Amino acid sequence: MFESLPDLHWCESMLELNKALSPTIEEASIIYILTDENVYNIWGNDLVESCSSLAHSNFIVVPAGEQCKTWDILGHVIGQLTEDAADRKSVLINFGGGTITDLGGLVASIYKRGIDFVHIPTTLMGMIDAAIGGKNAINFETTKNCIGTFQHPDSLIIAPFLLTDLPQKEILSAFAEMLKHALIADESLWKSLCNLDNISIQTLAPFIKRNIQIKNKIVLQDPYEENIRKFLNFGHTLGHVFESHGIITQKNWSHGQCVAWGMELASIISTEVGKLNPNMANEIIENLISWYGTPPDLNHQVWSTYIFNDKKTEFGEIKMILLDNIGYPSKDNIVSLETILESQSKLKSSFQHELE
Ligand SMILES: NC(=O)c1ccc[n+]([C@@H]2O[C@H](COP(=O)([O-])OP(=O)(O)OC[C@H]3O[C@@H](n4cnc5c(N)ncnc54)[C@H](O)[C@@H]3O)[C@@H](O)[C@H]2O)c1
Repeated sequence: MFESLPDLHWCESMLELNKALSPTIEEASIIYILTDENVYNIWGNDLVESCSSLAHSNFIVVPAGEQCKTWDILGHVIGQLTEDAADRKSVLINFGGGTITDLGGLVASIYKRGIDFVHIPTTLMGMIDAAIGGKNAINFETTKNCIGTFQHPDSLIIAPFLLTDLPQKEILSAFAEMLKHALIADESLWKSLCNLDNISIQTLAPFIKRNIQIKNKIVLQDPYEENIRKFLNFGHTLGHVFESHGIITQKNWSHGQCVAWGMELASIISTEVGKLNPNMANEIIENLISWYGTPPDLNHQVWSTYIFNDKKTEFGEIKMILLDNIGYPSKDNIVSLETILESQSKLKSSFQHELE
Protein backbone atom coordinates (compact mmCIF):
# COMPACT_ATOMS: atom_id res chain seq x y z
CA MET A 1 0.00 0.00 0.00
CA PHE A 2 2.76 2.42 0.90
CA GLU A 3 5.65 1.19 -1.23
CA SER A 4 4.98 3.94 -3.72
CA LEU A 5 3.33 7.31 -3.80
CA PRO A 6 0.05 7.98 -5.62
CA ASP A 7 0.08 9.17 -9.22
CA LEU A 8 0.60 12.91 -9.05
CA HIS A 9 -0.88 15.11 -11.76
CA TRP A 10 -0.05 18.78 -12.09
CA CYS A 11 -2.90 20.59 -13.89
CA GLU A 12 -3.04 24.14 -15.18
CA SER A 13 -6.66 24.04 -16.42
CA MET A 14 -9.97 22.20 -16.03
CA LEU A 15 -9.24 20.49 -19.33
CA GLU A 16 -6.04 19.00 -17.92
CA LEU A 17 -7.85 18.13 -14.70
CA ASN A 18 -10.49 16.22 -16.68
CA LYS A 19 -7.75 14.26 -18.42
CA ALA A 20 -5.96 13.52 -15.15
CA LEU A 21 -9.16 12.19 -13.57
CA SER A 22 -10.05 9.80 -16.39
CA PRO A 23 -7.84 6.78 -15.62
CA THR A 24 -9.15 6.42 -12.06
CA ILE A 25 -12.81 7.01 -12.78
CA GLU A 26 -13.38 5.47 -16.22
CA GLU A 27 -14.44 2.11 -14.78
CA ALA A 28 -16.28 3.47 -11.75
CA SER A 29 -19.79 2.20 -11.03
CA ILE A 30 -20.73 5.45 -9.24
CA ILE A 31 -18.64 8.61 -8.94
CA TYR A 32 -19.04 10.74 -5.83
CA ILE A 33 -17.58 14.19 -5.34
CA LEU A 34 -17.20 15.02 -1.66
CA THR A 35 -16.87 18.74 -1.08
CA ASP A 36 -17.82 21.49 1.36
CA GLU A 37 -20.42 24.24 0.97
CA ASN A 38 -17.90 26.96 0.11
CA VAL A 39 -15.99 24.96 -2.49
CA TYR A 40 -19.25 23.71 -3.97
CA ASN A 41 -20.48 27.30 -4.40
CA ILE A 42 -17.24 28.53 -5.95
CA TRP A 43 -16.16 25.56 -8.09
CA GLY A 44 -18.98 22.99 -8.14
CA ASN A 45 -20.63 23.99 -11.44
CA ASP A 46 -17.40 24.75 -13.18
CA LEU A 47 -15.98 21.35 -12.25
CA VAL A 48 -18.84 19.25 -13.60
CA GLU A 49 -19.46 21.48 -16.62
CA SER A 50 -15.80 21.47 -17.65
CA CYS A 51 -15.05 17.84 -16.89
CA SER A 52 -16.94 15.51 -19.21
CA SER A 53 -15.73 12.55 -17.14
CA LEU A 54 -17.86 13.85 -14.26
CA ALA A 55 -21.10 14.16 -16.23
CA HIS A 56 -22.81 11.46 -14.14
CA SER A 57 -21.25 12.16 -10.78
CA ASN A 58 -23.04 12.82 -7.48
CA PHE A 59 -22.09 15.59 -5.08
CA ILE A 60 -21.99 15.04 -1.35
CA VAL A 61 -21.77 18.49 0.23
CA VAL A 62 -20.82 18.84 3.90
CA PRO A 63 -20.31 21.86 6.19
CA ALA A 64 -17.04 23.75 5.72
CA GLY A 65 -14.17 23.60 8.18
CA GLU A 66 -13.51 21.31 11.13
CA GLN A 67 -17.28 20.74 11.57
CA CYS A 68 -17.08 18.16 8.80
CA LYS A 69 -14.43 16.07 10.57
CA THR A 70 -16.91 14.55 12.99
CA TRP A 71 -18.41 11.17 13.72
CA ASP A 72 -21.86 12.48 12.63
CA ILE A 73 -20.67 13.70 9.24
CA LEU A 74 -18.66 10.52 8.70
CA GLY A 75 -21.90 8.61 9.33
CA HIS A 76 -23.82 10.95 7.03
CA VAL A 77 -21.42 10.39 4.11
CA ILE A 78 -21.31 6.62 4.61
CA GLY A 79 -25.11 6.73 4.96
CA GLN A 80 -25.39 8.32 1.53
CA LEU A 81 -23.17 5.64 -0.01
CA THR A 82 -25.12 2.78 1.57
CA GLU A 83 -28.46 4.37 0.60
CA ASP A 84 -27.31 4.34 -3.03
CA ALA A 85 -25.99 0.77 -2.60
CA ALA A 86 -22.58 2.03 -3.76
CA ASP A 87 -20.40 -0.99 -4.50
CA ARG A 88 -16.65 -1.52 -4.30
CA LYS A 89 -16.18 -0.11 -7.82
CA SER A 90 -17.45 3.28 -6.66
CA VAL A 91 -14.92 6.12 -6.65
CA LEU A 92 -14.81 9.03 -4.22
CA ILE A 93 -13.29 12.31 -5.38
CA ASN A 94 -12.32 14.49 -2.44
CA PHE A 95 -12.57 18.05 -3.71
CA GLY A 96 -11.75 20.52 -0.97
CA GLY A 97 -9.30 21.58 1.69
CA GLY A 98 -7.54 19.44 4.26
CA THR A 99 -10.74 18.78 6.16
CA ILE A 100 -12.36 17.24 3.07
CA THR A 101 -9.33 15.14 2.08
CA ASP A 102 -8.97 13.96 5.71
CA LEU A 103 -12.67 13.03 5.94
CA GLY A 104 -12.99 11.63 2.41
CA GLY A 105 -9.80 9.61 2.69
CA LEU A 106 -11.17 8.02 5.85
CA VAL A 107 -14.56 7.26 4.25
CA ALA A 108 -12.94 5.71 1.17
CA SER A 109 -10.46 3.66 3.17
CA ILE A 110 -13.12 2.05 5.38
CA TYR A 111 -16.26 1.85 3.19
CA LYS A 112 -16.60 -1.80 2.11
CA ARG A 113 -12.99 -2.19 3.30
CA GLY A 114 -11.81 0.36 0.77
CA ILE A 115 -12.84 1.97 -2.50
CA ASP A 116 -10.71 3.96 -4.93
CA PHE A 117 -10.34 7.65 -4.20
CA VAL A 118 -8.83 10.77 -5.70
CA HIS A 119 -7.71 13.87 -3.84
CA ILE A 120 -8.11 17.23 -5.55
CA PRO A 121 -7.00 19.66 -2.85
CA THR A 122 -8.45 23.15 -3.24
CA THR A 123 -6.48 24.90 -0.50
CA LEU A 124 -2.78 25.63 -0.36
CA MET A 125 -2.73 23.63 2.89
CA GLY A 126 -4.18 20.65 1.06
CA MET A 127 -1.73 20.93 -1.83
CA ILE A 128 1.44 21.19 0.25
CA ASP A 129 0.48 19.06 3.22
CA ALA A 130 -2.92 17.58 4.04
CA ALA A 131 -3.49 15.69 0.77
CA ILE A 132 0.08 14.36 0.78
CA GLY A 133 1.16 11.35 2.79
CA GLY A 134 -1.91 9.16 3.15
CA LYS A 135 -3.10 10.17 6.60
CA ASN A 136 -6.89 10.33 6.89
CA ALA A 137 -8.81 11.27 10.02
CA ILE A 138 -11.70 12.83 11.84
CA ASN A 139 -11.65 14.41 15.29
CA PHE A 140 -13.32 12.78 18.28
CA GLU A 141 -14.69 14.87 21.14
CA THR A 142 -11.78 17.17 22.00
CA THR A 143 -9.06 15.14 20.31
CA LYS A 144 -7.84 16.19 16.88
CA ASN A 145 -7.44 13.46 14.28
CA CYS A 146 -8.24 10.78 16.85
CA ILE A 147 -9.89 8.30 14.45
CA GLY A 148 -8.12 7.60 11.20
CA THR A 149 -6.31 5.40 8.74
CA PHE A 150 -3.18 5.38 6.62
CA GLN A 151 -4.15 5.03 2.96
CA HIS A 152 -2.90 6.93 -0.07
CA PRO A 153 -5.37 8.13 -2.69
CA ASP A 154 -5.15 6.33 -6.03
CA SER A 155 -4.50 9.66 -7.64
CA LEU A 156 -3.54 13.12 -6.45
CA ILE A 157 -4.34 16.13 -8.61
CA ILE A 158 -2.63 19.44 -7.91
CA ALA A 159 -4.34 22.31 -9.72
CA PRO A 160 -3.07 25.65 -8.38
CA PHE A 161 -5.57 27.62 -10.51
CA LEU A 162 -8.22 26.50 -7.95
CA LEU A 163 -6.60 28.80 -5.38
CA THR A 164 -7.68 32.12 -6.91
CA ASP A 165 -10.45 32.80 -4.35
CA LEU A 166 -8.72 31.37 -1.29
CA PRO A 167 -9.05 33.80 1.66
CA GLN A 168 -5.86 35.37 3.04
CA LYS A 169 -6.40 33.67 6.40
CA GLU A 170 -6.17 30.26 4.68
CA ILE A 171 -3.05 31.29 2.75
CA LEU A 172 -1.37 32.30 6.00
CA SER A 173 -2.46 29.01 7.57
CA ALA A 174 -0.74 26.99 4.83
CA PHE A 175 2.30 29.25 4.98
CA ALA A 176 2.92 28.00 8.53
CA GLU A 177 3.24 24.42 7.24
CA MET A 178 5.61 25.63 4.52
CA LEU A 179 7.73 27.27 7.21
CA LYS A 180 7.62 24.02 9.17
CA HIS A 181 8.88 22.06 6.15
CA ALA A 182 11.69 24.59 5.80
CA LEU A 183 12.59 24.45 9.50
CA ILE A 184 12.81 20.65 9.58
CA ALA A 185 14.37 20.04 6.19
CA ASP A 186 15.62 22.96 4.14
CA GLU A 187 17.41 26.06 5.41
CA SER A 188 17.51 27.68 1.98
CA LEU A 189 13.73 27.36 1.72
CA TRP A 190 13.49 29.02 5.15
CA LYS A 191 15.59 31.96 3.91
CA SER A 192 13.54 32.28 0.72
CA LEU A 193 10.24 32.26 2.62
CA CYS A 194 11.50 34.80 5.17
CA ASN A 195 12.56 37.12 2.35
CA LEU A 196 9.13 37.29 0.72
CA ASP A 197 7.68 40.80 0.46
CA ASN A 198 4.15 39.57 1.03
CA ILE A 199 2.30 36.33 1.61
CA SER A 200 -0.05 35.64 -1.28
CA ILE A 201 -0.91 32.87 -3.72
CA GLN A 202 1.32 34.57 -6.29
CA THR A 203 4.36 34.60 -4.01
CA LEU A 204 3.78 31.12 -2.53
CA ALA A 205 2.73 29.12 -5.61
CA PRO A 206 6.34 28.74 -6.81
CA PHE A 207 7.10 26.83 -3.59
CA ILE A 208 4.31 24.22 -3.87
CA LYS A 209 6.45 21.64 -5.68
CA ARG A 210 9.35 21.93 -3.24
CA ASN A 211 7.01 21.44 -0.30
CA ILE A 212 5.44 18.36 -1.89
CA GLN A 213 8.97 16.97 -2.48
CA ILE A 214 9.96 17.49 1.14
CA LYS A 215 6.86 15.79 2.50
CA ASN A 216 6.91 12.92 -0.03
CA LYS A 217 10.57 12.19 0.67
CA ILE A 218 9.89 11.82 4.39
CA VAL A 219 6.68 9.80 3.90
CA LEU A 220 8.35 7.36 1.51
CA GLN A 221 11.10 6.62 4.03
CA ASP A 222 8.76 6.24 7.00
CA PRO A 223 5.15 5.72 5.91
CA TYR A 224 3.71 4.78 9.31
CA GLU A 225 5.40 7.46 11.40
CA GLU A 226 7.69 5.15 13.31
CA ASN A 227 10.79 7.24 12.75
CA ILE A 228 11.56 10.37 10.73
CA ARG A 229 7.94 11.07 9.76
CA LYS A 230 7.59 12.30 13.33
CA PHE A 231 9.62 15.37 12.26
CA LEU A 232 6.52 16.57 10.41
CA ASN A 233 4.92 17.01 13.83
CA PHE A 234 7.21 19.93 14.65
CA GLY A 235 4.94 22.56 16.24
CA HIS A 236 1.98 20.18 16.26
CA THR A 237 2.08 18.66 19.75
CA LEU A 238 1.51 22.10 21.27
CA GLY A 239 -0.29 23.45 18.18
CA HIS A 240 -3.02 20.82 18.57
CA VAL A 241 -3.65 22.03 22.11
CA PHE A 242 -4.39 25.53 20.81
CA GLU A 243 -6.45 24.06 18.00
CA SER A 244 -8.54 21.79 20.26
CA HIS A 245 -9.05 24.63 22.75
CA GLY A 246 -9.94 26.97 19.88
CA ILE A 247 -12.58 24.55 18.55
CA ILE A 248 -14.20 24.13 21.97
CA THR A 249 -14.17 27.88 22.71
CA GLN A 250 -15.10 28.84 19.11
CA LYS A 251 -12.02 30.97 18.57
CA ASN A 252 -11.71 30.50 14.82
CA TRP A 253 -7.93 29.99 14.97
CA SER A 254 -6.65 28.30 11.82
CA HIS A 255 -4.65 25.06 11.93
CA GLY A 256 -1.55 26.85 10.61
CA GLN A 257 -1.77 29.67 13.11
CA CYS A 258 -1.90 27.12 15.95
CA VAL A 259 1.06 25.23 14.47
CA ALA A 260 3.02 28.50 14.19
CA TRP A 261 2.37 29.16 17.90
CA GLY A 262 3.45 25.60 18.63
CA MET A 263 6.69 26.18 16.67
CA GLU A 264 7.39 29.38 18.65
CA LEU A 265 7.13 27.48 21.94
CA ALA A 266 9.05 24.48 20.58
CA SER A 267 11.89 26.82 19.53
CA ILE A 268 12.08 28.29 23.03
CA ILE A 269 12.11 24.77 24.52
CA SER A 270 14.82 23.75 22.01
CA THR A 271 17.13 26.43 23.44
CA GLU A 272 16.12 25.75 27.06
CA VAL A 273 17.26 22.13 26.71
CA GLY A 274 20.52 23.21 25.10
CA LYS A 275 19.81 22.15 21.54
CA LEU A 276 19.18 25.25 19.47
CA ASN A 277 21.52 28.24 19.47
CA PRO A 278 19.61 31.15 21.12
CA ASN A 279 20.36 33.52 18.18
CA MET A 280 18.91 31.02 15.77
CA ALA A 281 15.85 30.57 18.01
CA ASN A 282 15.41 34.36 18.08
CA GLU A 283 15.53 34.52 14.29
CA ILE A 284 12.88 31.79 14.02
CA ILE A 285 10.61 33.23 16.69
CA GLU A 286 10.84 36.83 15.46
CA ASN A 287 9.86 35.76 11.96
CA LEU A 288 6.97 33.61 13.23
CA ILE A 289 5.72 36.41 15.49
CA SER A 290 5.80 38.87 12.60
CA TRP A 291 3.20 36.73 10.81
CA TYR A 292 1.27 35.03 13.62
CA GLY A 293 1.82 37.04 16.83
CA THR A 294 2.32 35.21 20.12
CA PRO A 295 -0.04 32.51 21.36
CA PRO A 296 -2.78 33.14 23.90
CA ASP A 297 -1.85 32.16 27.45
CA LEU A 298 -3.45 28.86 28.37
CA ASN A 299 -3.56 27.79 32.00
CA HIS A 300 -2.26 24.54 33.48
CA GLN A 301 -5.69 22.92 33.40
CA VAL A 302 -6.29 23.64 29.72
CA TRP A 303 -2.85 22.34 28.76
CA SER A 304 -3.28 19.12 30.70
CA THR A 305 -6.80 18.55 29.35
CA TYR A 306 -5.58 18.35 25.79
CA ILE A 307 -1.93 17.44 25.79
CA PHE A 308 -2.26 14.04 27.42
CA ASN A 309 -4.78 13.05 24.76
CA ASP A 310 -2.34 13.85 21.98
CA LYS A 311 -1.41 10.87 19.81
CA LYS A 312 2.28 11.58 20.39
CA THR A 313 1.89 11.21 24.15
CA GLU A 314 3.01 7.74 25.24
CA PHE A 315 2.81 6.30 28.75
CA GLY A 316 1.82 9.77 29.97
CA GLU A 317 5.04 11.30 28.60
CA ILE A 318 4.82 14.32 26.33
CA LYS A 319 7.11 13.77 23.37
CA MET A 320 8.09 16.67 21.15
CA ILE A 321 10.04 17.40 18.03
CA LEU A 322 12.71 19.97 18.81
CA LEU A 323 15.35 21.63 16.64
CA ASP A 324 19.12 21.24 16.84
CA ASN A 325 19.39 23.74 14.04
CA ILE A 326 17.37 24.90 11.03
CA GLY A 327 16.98 21.78 8.88
CA TYR A 328 18.05 19.47 11.73
CA PRO A 329 15.15 18.33 13.89
CA SER A 330 15.33 15.80 16.71
CA LYS A 331 12.54 13.47 17.82
CA ASP A 332 11.24 11.74 20.94
CA ASN A 333 12.25 14.54 23.31
CA ILE A 334 10.41 14.09 26.59
CA VAL A 335 9.23 17.47 27.81
CA SER A 336 7.38 18.17 31.06
CA LEU A 337 4.21 20.23 31.28
CA GLU A 338 6.10 22.63 33.57
CA THR A 339 8.69 23.26 30.84
CA ILE A 340 5.88 24.03 28.39
CA LEU A 341 4.30 26.49 30.83
CA GLU A 342 7.69 28.13 31.44
CA SER A 343 8.26 28.47 27.68
CA GLN A 344 4.88 30.19 27.42
CA SER A 345 5.89 32.78 30.03
CA LYS A 346 9.35 33.22 28.49
CA LEU A 347 7.91 33.77 25.03
CA LYS A 348 5.66 36.54 26.34
CA SER A 349 8.36 38.25 28.44
CA SER A 350 11.17 38.04 25.86
CA PHE A 351 9.24 38.90 22.73
CA GLN A 352 6.55 41.26 23.98
CA HIS A 353 8.40 44.14 22.27
CA GLU A 354 7.83 42.47 18.90
CA LEU A 355 4.13 43.08 19.33
CA GLU A 356 4.33 46.70 20.47
N1 LIG B 1 -3.70 14.49 6.73
C1 LIG B 1 -2.67 15.28 6.92
O1 LIG B 1 -1.52 14.88 6.78
C2 LIG B 1 -2.93 16.71 7.30
C3 LIG B 1 -1.87 17.64 7.24
C4 LIG B 1 -2.16 18.97 7.53
C5 LIG B 1 -3.44 19.36 7.88
N2 LIG B 1 -4.42 18.41 7.95
C6 LIG B 1 -5.78 18.78 8.32
O2 LIG B 1 -6.26 19.70 7.34
C7 LIG B 1 -7.23 20.54 7.93
C8 LIG B 1 -6.94 21.96 7.53
O3 LIG B 1 -6.99 22.04 6.13
P1 LIG B 1 -7.34 23.40 5.40
O4 LIG B 1 -6.49 24.47 5.97
O5 LIG B 1 -7.31 23.16 3.95
O6 LIG B 1 -8.80 23.72 5.94
P2 LIG B 1 -10.29 23.57 5.32
O7 LIG B 1 -10.47 22.32 4.59
O8 LIG B 1 -11.21 23.83 6.47
O9 LIG B 1 -10.39 24.79 4.30
C9 LIG B 1 -10.27 26.10 4.82
C10 LIG B 1 -11.40 27.00 4.32
O10 LIG B 1 -11.14 27.30 2.95
C11 LIG B 1 -12.33 27.07 2.19
N3 LIG B 1 -11.89 26.71 0.84
C12 LIG B 1 -11.41 25.53 0.43
N4 LIG B 1 -10.99 25.62 -0.84
C13 LIG B 1 -11.25 26.87 -1.24
C14 LIG B 1 -11.04 27.58 -2.48
N5 LIG B 1 -10.45 27.01 -3.53
N6 LIG B 1 -11.43 28.88 -2.55
C15 LIG B 1 -11.99 29.48 -1.45
N7 LIG B 1 -12.21 28.88 -0.27
C16 LIG B 1 -11.83 27.58 -0.17
C17 LIG B 1 -13.04 25.98 2.94
O11 LIG B 1 -14.42 25.96 2.65
C18 LIG B 1 -12.78 26.36 4.38
O12 LIG B 1 -13.70 27.34 4.80
C19 LIG B 1 -7.17 20.30 9.43
O13 LIG B 1 -8.28 19.53 9.82
C20 LIG B 1 -5.88 19.53 9.62
O14 LIG B 1 -5.93 18.67 10.72
C21 LIG B 1 -4.19 17.12 7.66
